[in-house]
Amino acid sequence: MMPSGKTAEGPRRKNLDGLFKPRSVAMVGASADPHKIGHQILRNIVEGGFAGEVYPVNACAEAVLGLKTFPSVAAIPHPVDFAVISIPATAVAACMEECGQKGVQAVAVITSGFAEAGNIEEEHKLKAIADRYGMALVGPNILGVVYSPSRLNATFGPRDMASGGTAFVSQSGALAIGLMGWAVMEKMGMSALVSIGNKADVDERDLIEYFNHDEHVKVTLVYMEGLKNGRDFMQTRISKPVVMLKVGRTQRGARAAASHTGSLAGSDQVFDAAFRQLGMLRADTFREAFNWARALALPPMPGRKVLIITNGGGIGVRATDECEKAGLHLLDDPEWLEETFRPVMPSYGSTKNPIDLTGGAAADKYSQAFKSAVISDKFDALLVLYCETVITDPLAIAQGVSREYEAAGRRKPVVAAMVGGERSRQAIHFLNQQGVPAFTSVADAASSLNALAQWHEISSREKDDPECSQAPREAVRIVEQARKEGRSALLEHEARQVLELCGVPVPPAAFARDLDEAKLKAAALYPLAMKIASPQIIHKSDAGGVAVNIRDESELAEKYSAMMKTVSERVPDAQIEGVNLVQMAEGIECAAGLSSDPQFGPVVMFGLGGVLVEALKDVAFRIVPFGRVEAGRLIGDIKARNILDGFRGARADRPSLVQILCAIQKLAGLVKEVDINPIRSSEKGSFAVDARIIL
Ligand code: ACO
Repeated sequence: MMPSGKTAEGPRRKNLDGLFKPRSVAMVGASADPHKIGHQILRNIVEGGFAGEVYPVNACAEAVLGLKTFPSVAAIPHPVDFAVISIPATAVAACMEECGQKGVQAVAVITSGFAEAGNIEEEHKLKAIADRYGMALVGPNILGVVYSPSRLNATFGPRDMASGGTAFVSQSGALAIGLMGWAVMEKMGMSALVSIGNKADVDERDLIEYFNHDEHVKVTLVYMEGLKNGRDFMQTRISKPVVMLKVGRTQRGARAAASHTGSLAGSDQVFDAAFRQLGMLRADTFREAFNWARALALPPMPGRKVLIITNGGGIGVRATDECEKAGLHLLDDPEWLEETFRPVMPSYGSTKNPIDLTGGAAADKYSQAFKSAVISDKFDALLVLYCETVITDPLAIAQGVSREYEAAGRRKPVVAAMVGGERSRQAIHFLNQQGVPAFTSVADAASSLNALAQWHEISSREKDDPECSQAPREAVRIVEQARKEGRSALLEHEARQVLELCGVPVPPAAFARDLDEAKLKAAALYPLAMKIASPQIIHKSDAGGVAVNIRDESELAEKYSAMMKTVSERVPDAQIEGVNLVQMAEGIECAAGLSSDPQFGPVVMFGLGGVLVEALKDVAFRIVPFGRVEAGRLIGDIKARNILDGFRGARADRPSLVQILCAIQKLAGLVKEVDINPIRSSEKGSFAVDARIIL
């Protein structure tokens, strides 16, 4: 077994070798009664072919499944690496204590009735025992653990799961059982399945990082319902593809109603941001997740160019559409295609990609075409399509493709989609068993290739270097002074000053207490915007406290009087301190903000600004801290990104937007929320035109 301790990626929190590569397993709660969970787990361990020692523990029975039982873990006269515990909740802590004293390295607690049932204290007790003895604790409230390389199936799920390259980590035990059955039916091989239940100790991060070093795991698939500690999760290092299926689109916790940023920061979007930032692929459905997992075990896909071989024009067109939709492009090289594929098809076949071998194409034609194609470097992935006909044998076609793929050394990604009845289904199963992902739908095939291409893009993307600097002292002083005065928000000119001190460019501006002072200070600022300054008015436009494009003194005077009148009518109790005069900045309106997510802590938002930020909700997030590279990706995540890049002429200045997104992180921990809306961005730079800072 590998020693615990440091790895190339830093200290591992707990050694999980005891869980996956135990020399001996104790099954606590092993019953002779086949209706009990403990019986079925013991049966799976024994009949699954686990090669190490197995010690059933049962207070009453003498023997179970022909194995001598022990009354307790302490009574086992041999070392025990791993204990599976399936006894009533009240007895689990005492059993774990015994395990700790015995030197057990890992325990899996199947038992329910802990935090999920409100019994939080008892669960904390289990975690404390695990920590005291350095044991890894999986669960409680779980299905168990499967690890194919050790032939260990310590679950009460199906027994006949095939081994393969996917490790499945599931928060839900029931779903894990269901999906084990599905995996068996769909010939989806798995190297590991870990049900993590209440995650009192071992969680997604531990497992993903463990599998980084496990040669048997090519892809980790995680089913997640929620996180206990988002900031710890953000430290997860991944070196292999991780497919994340996160469900439960929960609302974010309470937040200040006064902020646009807060009102848009739906927690699901923040989870989305977290996965992107970590380089994980987020799937929407189980089918998608499993399809992707199959494809991600293929050789790398360095580009997005695809070649399609088919026996039907219609399915070829469908596949072309799905490929385009998924951002994949069909190889377009007429000469090479004609030269390569003409010899293997009838005169009425088509050598335009999709290569149409036509409906009569049998296994020999598919094999020849596949053989010619798979050795070429002209494209990045091969998609084999088949529509079932009575004159062709899908299984023979699948066998031919698989044989040629092996002969060519599996040099590039190959997936298949076969449409038909039972015979096609058999061919699909055959291909999946041979490691050629095969699907019943062309959309699934295209989506899987897209996942593979995405993983290549993620793994070769530029590394981000998070910036963790603090707000300058003067900015802290302004914030603290406002707090001392009992205010819940900074005044506009204070907010502008704080942002400027942090490195956010702001347009030239001035504060004026009355009209005379405004006339004086406005001279250097025309054209300008005038905004009411009052601690009681947060939504200035709603109060009639904003006038824009003021060009000269007479317009200033006129708009000033009108503003004072409207504001005093709409918010009669407001204490008016004066007006802020801000030089009009030109450019595309964007918005940025900083708020706090209950799970991930400080997050930064970016989107289009002005009224669009609320109307379109086209915003994206990143978890603080992040650097310039990630800030650039955040900007690229919004759907309207092409507007920033010069749609109809005007273009935003991305570098200065990046600067703003990096700079506002300095306020994390110091203030509650920052909302900059709009930022005006043009070739001249990006400027925070209006900002609110909530304490
Ligand atoms: N030491 C040794 N043996 C013990 C001990 C002990 N401290 N305590 C009990 N035993 C024995 C019992 O005598 C019994 O053996 P027997 O049948 O020979 O008498 C055996 O261990 C099991 O104990 P029971 O008291 O019979 O408990 P039972 O098996 O009925 O239930 C269980 C235990 C399964 C852990 C139950 O408490 C539980 O939590 N069930 C839910 C499990 C679950 O659903 N987990 C989540 C999975 S994921 C999903 O949602 C599907």
